[in-house]
Amino acid sequence: MAITIKSAREIELMKEAGRILEIVHNELEKALRPGMSTMDIDRLGEEIIRSYDCIPSFLNYNGYPASICVSVNDEVVHGIPNKHRILKDGDIVSLDAGVIYKGYHSDAARTHGIGEISKEAQDLIRVTKECFFEGIKYAKEGNHLFDISAAIDSHAARHGYGVVRDLCGHGIGTALHESPQIPNYKENRRGPKLKAGMTLAIEPMINMGTWEVNWLDDEWTVVTRDHSLSAHYENTVLITEGEPVLLSLTQKS
Ligand code: CO
Repeated sequence: MAITIKSAREIELMKEAGRILEIVHNELEKALRPGMSTMDIDRLGEEIIRSYDCIPSFLNYNGYPASICVSVNDEVVHGIPNKHRILKDGDIVSLDAGVIYKGYHSDAARTHGIGEISKEAQDLIRVTKECFFEGIKYAKEGNHLFDISAAIDSHAARHGYGVVRDLCGHGIGTALHESPQIPNYKENRRGPKLKAGMTLAIEPMINMGTWEVNWLDDEWTVVTRDHSLSAHYENTVLITEGEPVLLSLTQKS
């Protein structure tokens, strides 16, 4: 499948989708506290998304039963919210959310600490975010897609972390997942050329230990095989001839 180039009108709609998603993430971060359930996060997230006349894009996507993916500690992504899963001091929690605004998608993820977290956990969260920013240094017209992947991989490797290989970033637009797939690990080729107007969801998933993962019996929750902590950081990004535009991160990070 070809990588779509968005028109000026489509880009405006994706900017609005991204701006709303940024608000959703900021509100969820403010609400996080020990004692709340992962289901509480989903309820709140869905309510905020709908209050902006958006549709939660994950809800019922391939049967996924919630609006926000809430993944705790050794859960990498796609954790299913549960009213019995209570966040406690020292946990780390990855929140992944997607919205559809007038037919256009935005997708973003953040990992947060609950209360006081270990130095090791703080480092993992920070480096995962840094991996994203290292990657997008290459996100401009004329470069190649896997230049982004290689930059993410080498930053994680520098810290001795495992880069999840079973899941990737992706193109995004009128569908949550469009071409191309965007690995977070180095490839032996540079991949397709980037062009202005491409919109990409770039999402490093980084483990403190091995890169290997398992799926739980719920068929969704991805966990680290060695049960080490995992972090996730994602934004929807617009490629231009110059600096990339972070559609889901407009305020200073
Ligand atoms: Co995504």
